[in-house]
Amino acid sequence: MNIKEVIQNAYHKIKDIDDKGNLASYIPELENVNSACFGVHISTIDTLNFGVGNYHDKFSIQSIAKVLTLTMAYNILGEKLWKRVKVEPSGTAFNSLVQLEVENGIPRNPFINAGAIVIADVLLSNLDNPKEDFLNFVKTLSNSKEICYSEKIATSEKSVGYRNAALCNFIKSFGNIENKPSEVLDFYFNLCSLEMSCKELSNLFLFLANDGFTLADNEQILTRSQTKRINALMQTCGFYDESGEFAFKVGLPGKSGVGGGIIAVHPKQYAIAVWSPKLNEKGNSYKGMRFLEEFTTESKLSIF
Ligand code: DON
Repeated sequence: MNIKEVIQNAYHKIKDIDDKGNLASYIPELENVNSACFGVHISTIDTLNFGVGNYHDKFSIQSIAKVLTLTMAYNILGEKLWKRVKVEPSGTAFNSLVQLEVENGIPRNPFINAGAIVIADVLLSNLDNPKEDFLNFVKTLSNSKEICYSEKIATSEKSVGYRNAALCNFIKSFGNIENKPSEVLDFYFNLCSLEMSCKELSNLFLFLANDGFTLADNEQILTRSQTKRINALMQTCGFYDESGEFAFKVGLPGKSGVGGGIIAVHPKQYAIAVWSPKLNEKGNSYKGMRFLEEFTTESKLSIF
């Protein structure tokens, strides 16, 4: 089997399907992207790097950044982190408020917005310069200096961020937010606004395929156990109310974002990033999901 051929074939097959998705219009700035863009890039442990389509173009990684804030917070707090956020799938939409009331402000997992807002609060309490320190962490992980927040997107999201503000204030009322909601939200909107290409993303996420070590310089970011646990969380919670479907059809730990990006990891083998901006009704990239299903089916490279 030739991975490059499998990727090329899957790319061309999915490129021409009828895209039934829609752009994420609830963040006004995200409607300004070219919805025809479609890119894929794979990075493997044995150093294959291969991309097709718009894999050099930067896009808003949105919720994919939640894996990176979680990595940093887990690094800082260790197992104490799980007092602030649980590790169960929510079975609800990414921005849902419903479970928080009965579960006393402890979010179901770090990938729904509620959980990611708590993780942002943990970082605010523990970093001297949260925005700068987090960005430097991401740059180190990806071995690239070319990564930035998008002020335009962060401002656009802040201007309509009523639901995230509600989540943050609600969690604060239960005592599970330490900092000022306005500061937590500012950091949260910024981290969601990070812009990266498929190539940068698949390179960055290789550490989760490599037992917690960066491939480029063998730096340990997480312990093996922590790495396994983050992969487990991506497997069970990475696609919100569509996590079961992703495990069923694709069979990899992964994480999506409303910018239309998806990252997926095969422990010990590879990381693959896909970007196609139009989203299905669950908020995950329509073509991205279809591409990964085709890729793992044809390559037989899923974890199951
Ligand atoms: O908070 C939000 O709504 C966005 N910044 C992130 C949501 C997101 O990416 C959900 N992903 N599928």
